Amino acid sequence: MQLSRRGLLYGTAGVAAVSLAACGAGGETKPLTGFTGIAMPTTTSERWVLEGADLEKRLQDLGYKTILENGEDDIPTQIGQIQSMIDQGVEFLIIAAIGNTSLGEVLAKAKDKGVTIISYDRLILETPDVDYYASFDNNQVGVLQAKHIIDKLGLDQDTDETFNIELFSGSSDDNNSQYFFQGGLDTLEPYIYSGKVVIPSNQTELEFTATDKWSRAVARERMTGLLDEFYKDQPLHAVLSPYDGISRGIVEALVAADYEPGSDEFPVITGQDAELRSLKAIKEGTGQTETVFKDTRLLAGVTVDMVKSIVEGGKPEVNDLGTYDNGFKFIPAYLLDPLNVTVDNYKEVVVDSGYATEEAIDTAPADED
Ligand code: BGC
Repeated sequence: MQLSRRGLLYGTAGVAAVSLAACGAGGETKPLTGFTGIAMPTTTSERWVLEGADLEKRLQDLGYKTILENGEDDIPTQIGQIQSMIDQGVEFLIIAAIGNTSLGEVLAKAKDKGVTIISYDRLILETPDVDYYASFDNNQVGVLQAKHIIDKLGLDQDTDETFNIELFSGSSDDNNSQYFFQGGLDTLEPYIYSGKVVIPSNQTELEFTATDKWSRAVARERMTGLLDEFYKDQPLHAVLSPYDGISRGIVEALVAADYEPGSDEFPVITGQDAELRSLKAIKEGTGQTETVFKDTRLLAGVTVDMVKSIVEGGKPEVNDLGTYDNGFKFIPAYLLDPLNVTVDNYKEVVVDSGYATEEAIDTAPADED
């Protein structure tokens, strides 16, 4: 599987604008107005709430009508919401899918009505009806996480020490999960082959490492089991975690097993999304030490630009044509760069860029159960 976009075809050549006008019931065409349905997946993770509101505002600022819905991690709920958007006459759908293979039927109905479908952040699979994909370099997310572990453990230093690591991946119904995981695993692989890194559980396959619905509780439970089974008599040095919520679940399991955050014995833990609670832990040294920041303001901007280009009769800008195969075709994509965040640069990357204030980080409430 080709997971890297480097060296692949760039540019907009060959990507045709999907539609300049929507088809009415009788097959007649009418000018596009930009009416857009935004289907976000959940409110349990900060980013989707912020992005739903951001997308809506940007579209409304252009004078476009919008409908915003949240699927609360339930596939039938999201399908119902999309159907209702189609019934209300949207011309564009921006969808962050809950189940990556569950939307074929409803998207076929949207296509029948001439709706342009943009897969937002998560690629929708097994349907010919996805027109564009806007996301980040998802493989690079895993690379950054693994590099943090390499750096913090000093894996490149010339010693005979071996390090114990465990691996977590995201929800198996999210196409991004395999990209994050592969990026991380490929980067750690040389150290695993050389014997410098050991994975005592031997759980290196997605079927074992997956975290259903990206749930903190599911991650906590798996980490608790791993500690009980494999770490009674040996230290755990690092955990590759794909997402901040999962990272906090892992920290909870460690704390319950008497590991002390901030101490030398506390494992290195990675993350993703720069959630406020995780930034607080990074800043204060009370849990994970890294997160990957994906500037979702840029993603919302790129996506809204796609809609705008089509409304104005042009072609959306893409920068990747050959990385993301959804089972039917390679989806023209715009991919943005993720950034590594630690205590050393969180201020510059997250605060100075206006994404979060120090105060919001300092006062982030603890997770509720
Ligand atoms: C997104 C991540 C997010 C995860 C859980 C993934 O599809 O790319 O940014 O952490 O979903 O919401």
